[in-house]
Amino acid sequence: MRRIIILLLISVIYSSATKANEGMWIPILLEKYNIEEMQKLGFKLTAEDIYCINQASMKDAVVIFGGGCTGELISDEGLLITNHHCGYGAIQSHSSVENDYLTNGFWASSKDNELSNKNLSTTFLKRMEDVTDLVLEGVSDTISENKRAEIIAKNSEKIINEATRDNHYKAKVKAFFHGNQYFLFVNEVFNDVRLVGAPPSAIGKFGGDTDNWMWPRHTGDFSLFRIYADKNNQPADYSPDNVPFKPLKHFPISTKGIEEGDFTMVFGFPGSTEQYVPSYHLKMITEKVNPELIDIRTKKLNIIKRYQEADPAVRIQYAAKYARISNSWKRWIGEIKGLDKLNAIDKKEDFEKDFQLWATQQPNQNYATILNEYKEVYTNYGEYDLAYNFLLEVIYRNGMEAVKASAYLNSLKKAYESDSIDYNKTEELKQKLKKQYDAFFKDYHQPIDKELTAALLSMYKDRISNQFHPETYAFVNKKYKGDIKEYVDAVFAKSMFTNKDVLYRFIDDFSEKSIKKLSKDPALVLFESFYEVYKNNIWPKYKTLDAKLNKLNRNYMAAQMKYLQDAVFYPDANFTLRVSYGQVKSYIPRDGVKYQNYTTLDGIIEKDNPDIYDYRVPEKLKTLYNNKDFGKYEVNGTVPVCFIATNHTTGGNSGSPVVNANGELIGVNFDRAWEGVMSDLMFNPEQCRNISLDIRYVLFLVDKFAGAGYLLDEMTIIE
Ligand code: ARG
Ligand code: GLU
Repeated sequence: MRRIIILLLISVIYSSATKANEGMWIPILLEKYNIEEMQKLGFKLTAEDIYCINQASMKDAVVIFGGGCTGELISDEGLLITNHHCGYGAIQSHSSVENDYLTNGFWASSKDNELSNKNLSTTFLKRMEDVTDLVLEGVSDTISENKRAEIIAKNSEKIINEATRDNHYKAKVKAFFHGNQYFLFVNEVFNDVRLVGAPPSAIGKFGGDTDNWMWPRHTGDFSLFRIYADKNNQPADYSPDNVPFKPLKHFPISTKGIEEGDFTMVFGFPGSTEQYVPSYHLKMITEKVNPELIDIRTKKLNIIKRYQEADPAVRIQYAAKYARISNSWKRWIGEIKGLDKLNAIDKKEDFEKDFQLWATQQPNQNYATILNEYKEVYTNYGEYDLAYNFLLEVIYRNGMEAVKASAYLNSLKKAYESDSIDYNKTEELKQKLKKQYDAFFKDYHQPIDKELTAALLSMYKDRISNQFHPETYAFVNKKYKGDIKEYVDAVFAKSMFTNKDVLYRFIDDFSEKSIKKLSKDPALVLFESFYEVYKNNIWPKYKTLDAKLNKLNRNYMAAQMKYLQDAVFYPDANFTLRVSYGQVKSYIPRDGVKYQNYTTLDGIIEKDNPDIYDYRVPEKLKTLYNNKDFGKYEVNGTVPVCFIATNHTTGGNSGSPVVNANGELIGVNFDRAWEGVMSDLMFNPEQCRNISLDIRYVLFLVDKFAGAGYLLDEMTIIE
């Protein structure tokens, strides 16, 4: 009996209270919950050094970079560092055959040569505030979920208006702990952000998808940008008159390096995690949904890869698509393995047993029914979640390309169907559409799309239950005796979306009369048949189940926090600024193997292989290596490249500053190690490691490789 109690206790602590180094913490609550532990781990600064509104603090040097990454300021002239994979779109947009910055790298030799970017913003947090009471004013347990959402939206709007009334800030209210707490974020957004420098992809993406999500790693995953402001240091749209932005704070850079056990902190914008879901959710994604999603992506990757290997031009065309498909695919595979190794489902179930015992003893609460309700919802949810995601995979997420692109023309159709056609507008729309199709055809290889389309249609038919099958399958049975390939051949032969000239002529000549022809195009017919299924058979039920889950998640979260009153909880990631702290640490990925905590230039040379695209080392880097021309970045006869630590991070943390005990920049976060990617669902301190680029490799590359040493002059380097 005693053993059982102890086991129960351990399982409770293990699965719900936070483990060493686990957690993505709220900046304004560090003083209350974390600073003591941080200092115990070696941190020498205070909570106010991280977040403060009365004086400059670290938060003033961290930005949301673009739509989903983090970046940090490293000079008092607005210089910013983020990942190469975060700057990729900007670098690509300036690249042409003559100036191929992706392949060759780019270094603006002076501020005049820095390149401006449309649609690239950086966002600073000015202040945040707990606004739970205001947001939930008028909300009670008895009102419907819709009513609740309505009230919350209204209250939030009021708070946002108030916060932005007499200033140029942008504000947001965000839910924490699944709607149990709300915070206001007041942000300052800068839109003139210029490209300063980037290494060649052979450095910035070294290892490519082969090494992605893996340690040991040798990727020089960084790029440099500069924020510009008007003469008053205020945000302004691009203008040649703008001047480099003077931030309140920038990170000093330390070249002192790292040792096992050193304190590290990551300060950035983790996107989303699911730490508090019930065992049913883990079962659903590991047993039902993700294995199917992995399969469909394996199929896509195999097809694309075969064409890429046969033709270097196709390899370039499909490189970004391949990387996008591969990234989550690989993470899902690792996640299932990691959860399995952790016995995550058993742990959750043990926790739930104890929770249930407690819940039934809470007289006035509805907690006792939560798990049963979950069980009921998840009985159906998996099927809908799978159908929903599979359909997205077939069409929207790098699925059937021409079929997806056919729907772009619906906007034109709509414009002509309206009662009062505005012909100026339709002309504008035509030009816009042609631009959209230009982008589409630029990276389009029809043989791939044709093979993909047939393969994805077959797979959808085999894997997804009949109730979600679009009419197309009946049509294929009738007209093509069920031969999907033959049907796809016909679609590609007849559709105008597979032929640029035909399509552009059709757009130029588009009028009311074209609508009928458009509606009969077989690619669009196929698109619409899936869309109908989505609209009628998937979305309504999926949305209803989702709403039920939202409510359950909120209640379960509140119940867990009550149940483990003494534990300190951190909220799931929601793309708001968070602190993760931990230590530099080696790990044992599997029996008999130990990974050390850093990599060096030696490893890059070891991997060098001109026959493997991901492992081609630029000649210049090899020359520097052979001549041991490491300058002051030399450590033990080589140059440090990457390191690992136990910081709890996720997607969105890319580009985040990694600082040492003194708050000095020692690295730039860019990935997690394979054995620990299940940390979005359950953290394992033994296996979870974030991967950072060692800042000394950045300095070495800027100085020695790029000959852009002038950039170092504006940094604050502590040797
Ligand atoms: N795995 C990293 C992150 O999620 C890097 C992704 C980009 N690199 C790549 N080879 N696909 O997002
Ligand atoms: N590469 C990820 C990103 O783009 C960070 C890695 C992770 O998921 O931890 O945000």
